[in-house]
Amino acid sequence: MKLLYEGKAKKLFKGPDKGTVIQYFKDDATAFNAQKKDTLQGKGIINNYISSSIFQALDQTNIPHHFIRRLSDREQLVKEVDIIPIEIIMRKVAAGSICKRLGLIEGKALPKPLIEFCLKNDVLGDPIISREHIEIMQLAEQSEMEAITSIAFRVADFLTGFFSMIHIQLIDFKIEFGRFKVSNKTHEVILADEISPDNCRLWDIKTNQKLDKDRFREDLGGLIESYSDIANRMSIQLPELKAEK
Ligand code: TMP
Repeated sequence: MKLLYEGKAKKLFKGPDKGTVIQYFKDDATAFNAQKKDTLQGKGIINNYISSSIFQALDQTNIPHHFIRRLSDREQLVKEVDIIPIEIIMRKVAAGSICKRLGLIEGKALPKPLIEFCLKNDVLGDPIISREHIEIMQLAEQSEMEAITSIAFRVADFLTGFFSMIHIQLIDFKIEFGRFKVSNKTHEVILADEISPDNCRLWDIKTNQKLDKDRFREDLGGLIESYSDIANRMSIQLPELKAEK
């Protein structure tokens, strides 16, 4: 398979048909812009299953996305897009960088969902940017920003309900969007990347136990157990969590 791109947690390969790509989920975990690194056996498998299941569930909404189908334990087939270099962060409860930045107390519910934008640039450490920066740097068109914002709030609503059904509180999450070529002249902005405990904060509704990548960021241990717990609650039958070949 032809490697197109390698990121911190995934590899992208050329897909079998024109306009398709294969996303391969690695076991690598990074935090703090890859200053902290480890390999957690089976993480990629669990994230592939969880993300596949969430994107499938999105088919019951009118949220446009890139997911086609899961191909194997670590691979999924997706539509080929040009990723818009903006990370969209949606927050429902204060945690992580917003607490450090603004002095908010972790666990404090925000009065309404908050959208934030970060420049997708590892060298610069993904700095937070405003809509004005996005306009001036020409990262996305005004109409694209309207689509991104509207979809991001709908994803937040959807995920809040989805996780509350399995007794998990959605704290925040990060999503990415891509431009999908509809014809030579037109493209559509669609949800891309992954939705998994690597890029969502998820707390047990009763105990507030952290079930997401903060277990790695904060050296809490038990990441694979927590991710497996989420998959179990989603009624996913996980395969054996073998190491990567
Ligand atoms: P933050 O509190 O560190 O800004 O993170 C907010 C959310 O975004 C959290 O669910 C983790 C996720 N996230 C990523 O998926 N990738 C990243 O590079 C960062 C910084 C955060």
